[in-house]
Amino acid sequence: MTEKRPDYPMLGLQLQALMEGCTHFLPVLANASALLWQELPDLNWAGFYLLRGDSLLLGPFQGKPACTVIAVGRGVCGTAAASRSTQRVPDVHAFPGHIACDSASRSELVIPLIAADGRLLGVMDLDSPLPGRFTEADQAGLEAFARVLTEADWPETGP
Ligand code: SME
Repeated sequence: MTEKRPDYPMLGLQLQALMEGCTHFLPVLANASALLWQELPDLNWAGFYLLRGDSLLLGPFQGKPACTVIAVGRGVCGTAAASRSTQRVPDVHAFPGHIACDSASRSELVIPLIAADGRLLGVMDLDSPLPGRFTEADQAGLEAFARVLTEADWPETGP
């Protein structure tokens, strides 16, 4: 099967357009998760967890209902937050401590969201029912997408 590769630069431009006139984190992340869900094939979850104290709190997402609170350091999301580094996991069953919110998930990509001033804001999480769904190119493209979020003014991080 030949599949069209996602145009990540275009996705970033679409996100920038959606952010015009409104940089509040809530509508921005809601639209960002909808955009990822709409444009990327073979996902079963796309969304955000936001850092609150020592925990990651469920933020805007698309997909099935998910775990509401994840301790920093736990699972793939908590590991990305604790290490401040992207976790690209081709087989979640082989990842020690993986939190199975949806038993259909087989691979996962979690990118930490780090503001320009170095603050950890949270993580962007993408899950797929296909093993090895996320390539190095997907990682690079989605890290660039995440930078559109973190390079924006982020004046309000919570209600
Ligand atoms: N699988 C994640 C938990 C979040 S959900 O997949 C939406 C993890 O291990 O951190």
